[in-house]
Amino acid sequence: MNRVIDIVDLNPKEIEECIQTALDIIKNPDKYAHVCEGKKLATLFFEPSTRTRMSFEAAMYELGGHVISMTDANTSSAAKGESVADTAKTVSCYADIIAIRHPKEGAAYVTAQNASIPVINAGDGGHCHPTQTTADLLTIYREKGGFDNLTIGLCGDLKFGRTVHSLINAMSRYKNIKFVLISPEELKLPSYVKKDVLQKNNIPYEQTTDLERAMPKLDVLYMTRVQRERFFNEEDYLRLKDSYILTPQKMKYARDDMIVMHPLPRVNEISVEVDTDPRACYFKQVLNGKYMRMALILKLLKEAGRI
Ligand code: NCD
Repeated sequence: MNRVIDIVDLNPKEIEECIQTALDIIKNPDKYAHVCEGKKLATLFFEPSTRTRMSFEAAMYELGGHVISMTDANTSSAAKGESVADTAKTVSCYADIIAIRHPKEGAAYVTAQNASIPVINAGDGGHCHPTQTTADLLTIYREKGGFDNLTIGLCGDLKFGRTVHSLINAMSRYKNIKFVLISPEELKLPSYVKKDVLQKNNIPYEQTTDLERAMPKLDVLYMTRVQRERFFNEEDYLRLKDSYILTPQKMKYARDDMIVMHPLPRVNEISVEVDTDPRACYFKQVLNGKYMRMALILKLLKEAGRI
């Protein structure tokens, strides 16, 4: 396998292997400090990013490798009208592995079809974000001890939030999982995710607009930002942006062992006072993301025979 476009490109056994690699990296960073010497990661980011791009780059440096980067579509040949396919063929001449983020759904797939090196999707429009999910999975694994028997509340923009779509896909493969989908009417989970993932796998789920009522039953609360850039008009965004704000007051409804996750960036949906609550795990997620990206780069470069 030379690509991770969707989280289901990694089966549960491969996820477990990446988790074990990540845990070993955490314990023995020196063992991994030179494994990618002389290798290059190309980060192609056609959309804004802080964590995803920097964690990919930090991951490659910590493996002893190098990074070449395209961080602004306006200063690359995309601005002259170059296709994603031609960019993929070009970058394959310079690098050993690509991480790409693009506003169009399917762009990472097209890149993988045209590249001769491994490709990782770092977010394609409102579709998927598999490496955020690997960060989420390592966080759940470390905080909850595994993936079975969990009730997961997903709150906010479930329509455009690609991290939510990927996390549902990933978690639906474990035992006794339940989802509580908390969103305004207009931002409900797309029916293709409900049909193709939840209903197809007989995963129990409920939909609600009421965060407080849902809180007491949750093992995990996954908050998300309302995705302004994917709205057709600003008025709708302004009306919906503060639909949910998690505060210390609302945290009183949660169990003592519930964890709060968020892929970040946060806008208003978690008040900063929640950050000191021991149940807040979103900055742990950031660090876990770097380790899982290291594990993934290693796996794909090994499978491609490049290390
Ligand atoms: C997420 C994304 O890009 O989809 N951010 C991230 O990569 N951590 C979430 C978001 O932008 O809201």
